Amino acid sequence: MMQNAILWWSSLYVRLMFVFWPCASAGNQCHIQNEMADCSHLKLTQIPSDLPKNITSLDISHNQLRQLDPANLTKYSQLVYLNAGYNIISKLQPELCQNVPLLQILKLEHNELCKLPDRVFASCTNLTELNLGYNRLNIKNDPFKTLKNLNILDLSHNSLKSANLGLEQQLEKLHELMLGGNQITELKKEDFSFLRNTSLNSLDLSSNPLKEFHTGCFHTIGNLFGLVLNKVELGENRTKKLCTELSNTEIRNLSLSRVKLSYIGKSTFQGLQGTNLTILNLSQNSLSLIENDSFQWLSSLQYLNLKINNIHVSSRLFYGLSSLKHLNLINSLSGKIEDFSFHWLYHLEYLIMDNNNFPGITANMFTGLNNLKYLSLCNCNINLQRITNKTFSSLTNSSLQVLNLTKTRISTIESEAFSSLGHLKILDLGLNEISQQLTGHEFKGLNNIQDIYLSYNKNLTLQSESFIFVPSLRKLMLRKVGCSNLELSPSPFHHLRNLTVLDISNNNIANIKEDLFDGLDKLDILDLQHNNLARLWKHANPGGPVLFLKGLPNLRILNLKSNGLDEIPVQVFKGLFQLKHLDLGSNNLNLLPATLFDDQASLNSLNLQKNLITSVEEKVFGPPFRSLRKLEMDSNPFDCTCESIAWFADWLNETQADIPGLRSQYICNTPPKYHGSLVLYFDSSACKDSAPFKLLFVISTTIVMVFIFVVLTIHFEGWRIAFYWNVLVNRILGFKEFERHQEQYDYDAYVIHAREDKNWVSKNFMSLEKNNHFEIKFCLEERDFEAGVSEFEATINSIKTSRKIIFVVTEHLLQDPWCKNFKVYHALQQAVEQSRDSIILIFLEDIQDYKLYHALHLRRGMFRSRCILNWPAQKERISAFHQHLVMALKCQSKVH
Ligand SMILES: *[C@@H]1O[C@H](CO)[C@@H](O)[C@H](O)[C@H]1NC(C)=O
Ligand SMILES: *[C@@H]1O[C@H](CO)[C@@H](O)[C@H](O)[C@H]1NC(C)=O
Ligand SMILES: *[C@@H]1O[C@H](CO)[C@@H](O)[C@H](O)[C@H]1NC(C)=O
Ligand SMILES: *[C@@H]1O[C@H](CO)[C@@H](O)[C@H](O)[C@H]1NC(C)=O
Ligand SMILES: *[C@@H]1O[C@H](CO)[C@@H](O)[C@H](O)[C@H]1NC(C)=O
Ligand SMILES: *[C@@H]1O[C@H](CO)[C@@H](O)[C@H](O)[C@H]1NC(C)=O
Ligand SMILES: *[C@@H]1O[C@H](CO)[C@@H](O)[C@H](O)[C@H]1NC(C)=O
Ligand SMILES: *[C@@H]1O[C@H](CO)[C@@H](O)[C@H](O)[C@H]1NC(C)=O
Ligand SMILES: *[C@@H]1O[C@H](CO)[C@@H](O)[C@H](O)[C@H]1NC(C)=O
Repeated sequence: MMQNAILWWSSLYVRLMFVFWPCASAGNQCHIQNEMADCSHLKLTQIPSDLPKNITSLDISHNQLRQLDPANLTKYSQLVYLNAGYNIISKLQPELCQNVPLLQILKLEHNELCKLPDRVFASCTNLTELNLGYNRLNIKNDPFKTLKNLNILDLSHNSLKSANLGLEQQLEKLHELMLGGNQITELKKEDFSFLRNTSLNSLDLSSNPLKEFHTGCFHTIGNLFGLVLNKVELGENRTKKLCTELSNTEIRNLSLSRVKLSYIGKSTFQGLQGTNLTILNLSQNSLSLIENDSFQWLSSLQYLNLKINNIHVSSRLFYGLSSLKHLNLINSLSGKIEDFSFHWLYHLEYLIMDNNNFPGITANMFTGLNNLKYLSLCNCNINLQRITNKTFSSLTNSSLQVLNLTKTRISTIESEAFSSLGHLKILDLGLNEISQQLTGHEFKGLNNIQDIYLSYNKNLTLQSESFIFVPSLRKLMLRKVGCSNLELSPSPFHHLRNLTVLDISNNNIANIKEDLFDGLDKLDILDLQHNNLARLWKHANPGGPVLFLKGLPNLRILNLKSNGLDEIPVQVFKGLFQLKHLDLGSNNLNLLPATLFDDQASLNSLNLQKNLITSVEEKVFGPPFRSLRKLEMDSNPFDCTCESIAWFADWLNETQADIPGLRSQYICNTPPKYHGSLVLYFDSSACKDSAPFKLLFVISTTIVMVFIFVVLTIHFEGWRIAFYWNVLVNRILGFKEFERHQEQYDYDAYVIHAREDKNWVSKNFMSLEKNNHFEIKFCLEERDFEAGVSEFEATINSIKTSRKIIFVVTEHLLQDPWCKNFKVYHALQQAVEQSRDSIILIFLEDIQDYKLYHALHLRRGMFRSRCILNWPAQKERISAFHQHLVMALKCQSKVH
């Protein structure tokens, strides 16, 4: 009843919440943070009036505003940034900024503005950036003349027919003017006179149908440092005219990409002679013919981009580019490159020649590039199958530091192939088809090398000496090179004391020795993923697990993904105190030994995804989880029971660590009750509730077990306890009256036997008595009992006056009631008083212990072995039996 009532009330409450909640929010769904309001993409038609008054930034872009009324901005007088782009604003009111005097950035791109009313920006004096791109504007009446602080003005993609934005001189602070994508067909002499006092870093006139540059058109600009004319159909004639117009300007940066400049003549750039042009972009022009000495005018040029053209490199092509530092020739060459073509470029530092086809590297191809630092020939089809000691001999005098030869179809590296590159620091030979044994001589002469990339080659066979000539190596990449056998002694990495990164992943390595990484004190990153190392860590591995990670004190990142690992020896990560990132994903790990990660207390990320882990227990994962920032343990068959997962579920609910897929990929597999549910939702409180019960269970079990043990002990060993107890009591309390000295005994032994065994007794004991040698006297009932004394009394007396008591045990004795009760009782009494040695058992038949106990309350175990005698079946052993009996009779009766 109670429960139902609560349910009903709570569901009603939830429903009421949903009814009233939208009203409470009053339609304002803007995202507000630190005085910035983001109201973009909300289909708004007006500026919301309920934003905090003190916002400095308002993004109202991507909505459906039709106008931007200054009145609507009254509340937000602190605005510095206003983005109203991507709306349908077709009209602006005068004095747009009158209520937002602090506005610095105004973005109105992608609207439907056709006209700017007079005085629209009159109050926007603090504006530094104004974006009016992608409207339909035509400019009249100097609308920008008040923008004394404007740095950037974007009017691209409008309907401008002229670059003339005003008659008066204005925009003194302008740096960038974007006029691309308009309908400007000519630049008249006075068009830019409004920029008379302006220093433009960039004037962008791209994508205009420019046909004519009138004389002096650029000279009216205060200073013009950068000009972008991409996608303007210039061709050779207009390019030449342009350069003439640019002569004696401050031009530094000229971009002429996609201007249909297929031919460059000797005088095309002549106009630039007097300039300090430093950057020239001529990419994507289908350039095929460049006359000799065409660049002679550009002695200040530092960056030349000729990307994506079709140029034949002749020996005087680069003549005069004496300042060039950076030459981009990506996908731009055709035919052969003549020897000494580059020797004009004695300041060249970066030569990038990726994606080209040419017949090959000739003997003097790079001669003269004495300042070259970086050479990239990636993905070139240049017959580089064999690298010999001649291939790069033209760079002997250079100080090349980086050589990138990826994807150049190299198959063989000959001895000392790079010996002319003694300054080289980075050599990239990845993604080739190298197939050879590395003897070490390949890299001889690379005295300053730091990084060698050999990843993704066909078949590299390593040997101990493979890197003997490059002890300065810091980074060695050998991913997927087919070096499956690294069981080498000494290790090929033995000399690489400065190595910090080693990648030998994807090699199907199955055999390595324990000392493979010995001495790599500085190793920081070790990649071993996608190998076959499972056997090495198996318990059953002949010679024990191979602990190849020892002696890597500075290892920070270790990748062991996809190695088929199903066992991890507990010592394997010991000593790796610096480990921050450990990847054990995609293996077959199930149970990890406790304390495995105890040295990894500063681990930042751990990957154990796609294993067979069922339980995540504190004794294994407590230490490494302490400082973890990222855990990837998804896709394991978690066992959602208290013992296996409770601790983990609690940790997941509390941790700040990043756990991708926590709400989708951490799923219980067992028990059936939880199959398919999220580990995160495992209710560990049930486990905690059971804790007291568990304790109770343990205690009660212990009590029951102890009780059962005591009962069983008493049952089976009780006689022994009772016996010793009696002995002990008698020892302590003393039964002085019974103590006698040896000589006080009349007989050596009183013999208890059944009537039926009389004959055996007479025969054997009398014969013993007769033997003078032994001097033994038995007390035999038939012979020695005094006449007239009751048997009862006689028995007691005889027992008392005999030193020992002999039981002749037969089935008959067990049946004899007289023996059973009285005699045995007294014999035992005697034994207790004197010593357990005082009783001797002689078995004439094989009598089981339980029968003996049942009948006489005696057990073999009560007596010393020398006091238990068996009547031998064989005649020849009888004398030995006698000997044995005499020994038993003569020995001291004492409890020890
Ligand atoms: C801006 O106003 C909000 C309340 O509207 C206030 O919480 C915040 O502290 C104010 N920020 C500043 C910088 O005054
Ligand atoms: C915006 O201004 C218009 C015209 O001045 C007015 O009708 C409208 O209510 C204002 N909207 C807001 C949200 O202030
Ligand atoms: C421009 O901003 C400054 C503060 O940054 C302010 O003092 C000045 O009045 C503003 N200019 C105008 C015209 O409002
Ligand atoms: C370029 O100018 C030359 C003469 O200066 C003329 O012969 C040639 O036809 C022009 N080319 C184009 C494409 O206009
Ligand atoms: C080119 O640079 C030099 C040195 O920096 C300078 O003296 C000269 O005036 C510059 N020329 C032009 C046209 O800017
Ligand atoms: C290049 O190797 C050849 C043998 O292959 C040798 O004769 C020649 O001297 C070497 N040249 C240089 C510059 O080391
Ligand atoms: C070599 O060039 C390739 C392709 O551009 C690039 O991916 C690689 O990072 C470069 N190698 C080096 C060492 O910079
Ligand atoms: C790899 O090269 C070694 C010799 O360097 C050769 O014995 C082995 O068969 C080669 N393996 C493959 C797969 O080509
Ligand atoms: C290893 O690095 C140290 C320190 O950067 C340097 O002094 C030493 O010369 C390097 N060893 C080799 C063999 O290059």
